[in-house]
Amino acid sequence: MAEIIKRERLVPNIHCVEIEAPEIARKCQPGQFIIVMPDEKGERIPLTVADWDRESGTVTCVFLVVGTSTHKLSFLQAGDEIPVVVGPLGRPTKIEKLNTVMVIGGCYGIGAIYPLARAYKNLGSKVLTLIDVKADYLFYWKEKFEEVSDEIFVSSRDYVYDCQGYVPQILKKILRERKQKINRVYASGCTYLLYTCAQATQPARIETIVALNPIMVDGTGMCGACRVTVGGKTKFACVDGPDFDGHQVDWEELFARRKSYFDDEIQSLCYWERKTFP
Ligand code: FES
Repeated sequence: MAEIIKRERLVPNIHCVEIEAPEIARKCQPGQFIIVMPDEKGERIPLTVADWDRESGTVTCVFLVVGTSTHKLSFLQAGDEIPVVVGPLGRPTKIEKLNTVMVIGGCYGIGAIYPLARAYKNLGSKVLTLIDVKADYLFYWKEKFEEVSDEIFVSSRDYVYDCQGYVPQILKKILRERKQKINRVYASGCTYLLYTCAQATQPARIETIVALNPIMVDGTGMCGACRVTVGGKTKFACVDGPDFDGHQVDWEELFARRKSYFDDEIQSLCYWERKTFP
């Protein structure tokens, strides 16, 4: 059992949860994830670690409320316990000193890119952060990003920021107009965001690492649920990734596999809602 230290709604539909997990907090690195079960009858879901405190032994994850398990998680309060927390899982993101790095995040991926931006900044790299939100009020952890970014670009569709438009257009514009080369792009968020970022950087051949988010079950390479094809080879995102070269991913297959349980997920959520809020 692991205790919930804090659970809060950051913006509509996106929450963060801080969990007491000293062993995970001691070892986790940017890019890794944990598997949690919100209750004893729940499914196992992967959550990318967005922050940690090695001294107090806690890890923080940001999640989008989308299916039954994330709805259950969003109702937990400080002091509640969850039966399963496993990790850290996956390979840490490759981080080395580079002149300029761009980190891109949307939705829960905004939280996921934070430790990367911090790690690159600590190494002395110039960090450009590109945030994808539908509207200004959906940009969470702004102050945290200001501390670890040299420049922040926001792709929002509400005309609050200078950079209106969807991420790939903004990314292409930045690549076109910048004099200094961007050495690496890293993206985390929904599959479509990852795909479009990889498409945008391909012509300029900029190394683009994407944190893939296929369905996972065990998270340790045993079930095969997270199978993806990268560079023509079969990989398992939980043990070979979740980071992969975005220019080598078989996106069509990934989109199809992510949809495998859509109907069951909707049925499950309807059933749970009827039972919980009769
Ligand atoms: Fe089971 Fe990756 S989640 S093999």
